[in-house]
Amino acid sequence: LHIVVLMGGWSAERSVSLQSGAGVADALESRGHRVTRIDMDRDVAARLATAQPDLVFNALHGTPGEDGSVQGMMDLMGLRYTHSGLATSVIAIDKVLTKQALVPHGVPMPGGRIVRSAHLFDRDPLPRPYVLKPVNEGSSVGVAIVTADGNLGDPISPDAAGPWQEFDELLAEPYIRGRELTTAVLGNRALGVTELIPKNGWYDFDAKYTDGLTEHVCPARIPDEIADACKALALEAHRLLGCQGASRSDFRWDDERGVDGLFLLEVNTQPGMTPLSLVPEQARHVGMDYATLVQAIVDEAMA
Ligand code: DAL
Ligand code: MG
Repeated sequence: LHIVVLMGGWSAERSVSLQSGAGVADALESRGHRVTRIDMDRDVAARLATAQPDLVFNALHGTPGEDGSVQGMMDLMGLRYTHSGLATSVIAIDKVLTKQALVPHGVPMPGGRIVRSAHLFDRDPLPRPYVLKPVNEGSSVGVAIVTADGNLGDPISPDAAGPWQEFDELLAEPYIRGRELTTAVLGNRALGVTELIPKNGWYDFDAKYTDGLTEHVCPARIPDEIADACKALALEAHRLLGCQGASRSDFRWDDERGVDGLFLLEVNTQPGMTPLSLVPEQARHVGMDYATLVQAIVDEAMA
């Protein structure tokens, strides 16, 4: 096949996407496909029209690329592409819309409220500790944990570095103590559960992409009941949102509360495909090497 690997772009996750795209493109070439690499710019439609590929492998992360805009453009152009379509992407990139779509179906997610950044300095939107995050970013870009006494984002002040300087609105969610878990879904199958144990602080951007800063325990050493719940919830979320190809659902688990302490944080419709990324790691664990995973995503998109 002639496959365009679409990567880069101008989101906050550009650097991550370039690594995902490079890995995917190499894997596709190793499988004998003809590959055109496109680092997305404002001329992307013209470049795709010139390339006329059989398939676009979407290796973009963040906004735009994960948010439906690029998917809508490709729909209009009649191009086939990997991963989720327009409507799913619009909902899944937005952490508030995702709650509205999933919570009524019984998927446990933390309550949250939108706060105007300027009002954060009047009073805390929630009892501490709580998490502040942009509604539609990935890779923990712009996330702050506001603790009662710690040094993470405390005290909040207009001068202190934090997402309130960059984003007019933020989502405030109660901080869930305990453990960080994630489950990849490929097609109709939940691949496994990984626990992320950051060596210092929390699982922020640097901990995600710097080799050695986070221990990945795959499969997670957690009770079967919790692992089964992660897999069932990730599959359910994938299905309810109408995800295609691969998705990855991220969880917090308060291990003092049993299964009642498990909360879905979000569904990633364009999960990372870098060498340190979690979906390739879980695929490997079930016997699927990186190139086979990439081919499986291609096969689903072509079916
Ligand atoms: N947002 C990053 C790429 C991920 O979900 O892996
Ligand atoms: Mg994300």
